Amino acid sequence: MANDEVFFKWSPDYSVNIKTIDDQHQELVNILNRLFVAVSKREGDLAIAGILDALVSYTQTHFALEERLMRQAKYKDLEPHIAEHKKLLAELDQLAKKHMLEEKTIYFEMLTFLKTWLKEHINGVDTKYSAALQEVGFSVDVWEREATAEFAAMSNSKKWWELWKAA
Ligand SMILES: [Fe+2]
Repeated sequence: MANDEVFFKWSPDYSVNIKTIDDQHQELVNILNRLFVAVSKREGDLAIAGILDALVSYTQTHFALEERLMRQAKYKDLEPHIAEHKKLLAELDQLAKKHMLEEKTIYFEMLTFLKTWLKEHINGVDTKYSAALQEVGFSVDVWEREATAEFAAMSNSKKWWELWKAA
């Protein structure tokens, strides 16, 4: 892979037409790209662990906010969506644990898995709930304000966030 090639290039096709959600998805892509660079350049376990931590925390918060949005909108397929989120977090946890026992190649396996999962999740179930919310005329404004405030608080209170931003 050429040096200037981006591991996971964001495309407008991934938009779910809710700005806050798109921004969060793009940030997840950014963290994945950062992790890819750290792994490729062998930046060391500490740097990689910091980025991995940021990825897990950001994903957890993003999922929680997204689930709240669907709950507020009384979205009918909320439960299976939550199940997908839970499964991903469990798999991420397993991959991280597996890395402790094995060699570095696990990172590339993890990166490819996460990239595929995120693409399919956004283009699949995320697009579905967004379309359903818009169809019933649900206004996302209040949720977007709350989500923005929550993210700001999270960014200020977590050291890993600085670590990831500074990297
Ligand atoms: Fe989702």
